[in-house]
Amino acid sequence: MARQFLWIIVPYLSLVLFVAGHIWRYQRDQFGWTSKSSELLEKRQLRLGSLLFHWGILFVFVGHVMGILIPESFYTALGITEEMYHVIALAGGIPAGLAALVGLVILFRRRLTVKRVRATSSTGDWVALGFLAIVIASGLSSTFLNVDSHGFDYRTTIGPWFRGLLTFRPNPAYMETVPLWFQIHILAAFGLFASWPFTRLVHVFSFPIRYLQRSYVVYRKRMPKQAEPFKRAQ
Ligand code: HEM
Repeated sequence: MARQFLWIIVPYLSLVLFVAGHIWRYQRDQFGWTSKSSELLEKRQLRLGSLLFHWGILFVFVGHVMGILIPESFYTALGITEEMYHVIALAGGIPAGLAALVGLVILFRRRLTVKRVRATSSTGDWVALGFLAIVIASGLSSTFLNVDSHGFDYRTTIGPWFRGLLTFRPNPAYMETVPLWFQIHILAAFGLFASWPFTRLVHVFSFPIRYLQRSYVVYRKRMPKQAEPFKRAQ
């Protein structure tokens, strides 16, 4: 029963909240659909932290698609052996995960120590940062603790279980031998997905394509009152 709860009910609950939450947020709060940039409040730490975090996460995402969504049989058909896959996964995954972690630590520290950024932080900002920290730290721990390629194989356990969820044929039996660090990582990721639509993370789904064709926004100083050129005579 605990198995069903953790590896079927929790994931689906989280994914339903993820989808329904985004629809709800879009209906209710389109003007709040933003990354809430705090660049004006502090720039130096943001630039470094954000750069490391976003590039790191991008490569981590590609790694997850390669390791979890694409089945092992695909690589075997291409002639990529277990060992070759493992070396590629570690060589790409560890630097990407470390970059994301260092970036997140800089952003966390900035939000805590820069007074103006802290004062403008919402509960959602802390929740998003907290979940990201747990997910990334536990992901890296899982990778490091599993460096020995003869240990646990997530491509024959977590991979088919996750693909089963997406195709509505979930089989929690695949999760039976999964080590604790991986379990913490995956459950924290579902916590992140459930809270996602209620935080600034919604900005991931805003593609600023219209920026390319819309007219400019012109920022200029306000004229002093008496010199306002278009003021009507009364
Ligand atoms: C339910 C969704 C997820 C599953 C099933 C999952 C599974 C995994 C697995 C199996 C690994 C080990 C990879 C390896 O050792 O080569 C891993 C590592 C990692 N995961 Fe996830 N993960 C999920 C979501 C996430 C999310 C949302 C993030 C980030 C926000 C994340 C960040 C990481 C990081 C940083 C690592 C370590 C570095 C790396 O291998 O890329 N994961 N994850």
